[in-house]
Amino acid sequence: MSATPTYGNLTNQGASTNIAWHHASVDRAARAEQRGHRSTILWFTGLSGAGKSTLANAVNQALFERGLATYVLDGDNVRHGLCKDLGFSDADREENIRRIGEVAKLFLDAGVIVLTAFVSPFRADRDKARALVENGDFIEIFCSADLSVCEQRDTKGLYAKARAGEIKEFTGISSPYEAPERPELSVDTGASDLEACVNQVVRALIDQGIIPSQA
Ligand code: ADX
Repeated sequence: MSATPTYGNLTNQGASTNIAWHHASVDRAARAEQRGHRSTILWFTGLSGAGKSTLANAVNQALFERGLATYVLDGDNVRHGLCKDLGFSDADREENIRRIGEVAKLFLDAGVIVLTAFVSPFRADRDKARALVENGDFIEIFCSADLSVCEQRDTKGLYAKARAGEIKEFTGISSPYEAPERPELSVDTGASDLEACVNQVVRALIDQGIIPSQA
C-alpha cells in the first residue's frame, strides 16, 4: 500500500490529530455482567464457498436462541456499504480486513459476540486484527473446505468465471489463500454437516467460559 492511501475522495493526510480517548462509564465488564456472557470475536476464515457465511449465520442463530447478544459481519454485505470503495487487490483486502478488525473491536467493547465471515486470505492481515484485542478475545475459526470442494460447489458461479479469466485476483485461483497455522478452531466445512459444525463452535464457546452451558 502506498504511504498515503486514498479511498474515494478521502486521504489520511493530517487525519486523527488533536483527539483524545473518551472513557465511557459503562464498560465491557459491566455489559458482560448485565448480559451474563462475555463478548468475543469469532473470526471465520476460508475460501469463497467454504461455508463461512452459512456457518456464521447458523452459529449466530443458535446463540441468539440462547438469548445472547450477537452480530454477524459478512464480507459480501459489508462490501455493499462500509467497504464498497474496496476491490480485491492485496492492498484493498488488507484495508477491508483492517476496517473489519476495528469494527469487530467496537462490537467486543459493546459486549456483543461478533462473528466475522471474510475470506481474509492473508495471515498477516488476520494477525493484525488479532493484535487489536487482548489475548483470548479473538477466536480464529478455519473453515477448511478445500479448493476442489469449493470449486465443485461454486454456489455463486464465481470459480467458473475466475477459471475463464473473467474475474482477476480470485482467491484460490489467481490470488493466494494462506491457511491459519494455529487457529483456535478448525471446522471441516467440506465434509461435516452444518449442525455438527455449529455444535463444535458452540461447544468451544462453552468450554472457554465465554457463554454459559445453559443459557
Ligand atoms: S477478503 O479477501 O477481502 O476478505 P471478502 O470476504 O470481503 O474478501 O469478500 C469475498 C467475497 O467476495 C467472496 O465470497 C465472493 O463472493 C466475492 N468475490 C468477488 N471477487 C472476488 C475475488 N477476486 N476473490 C475473492 N472473492 C471475491
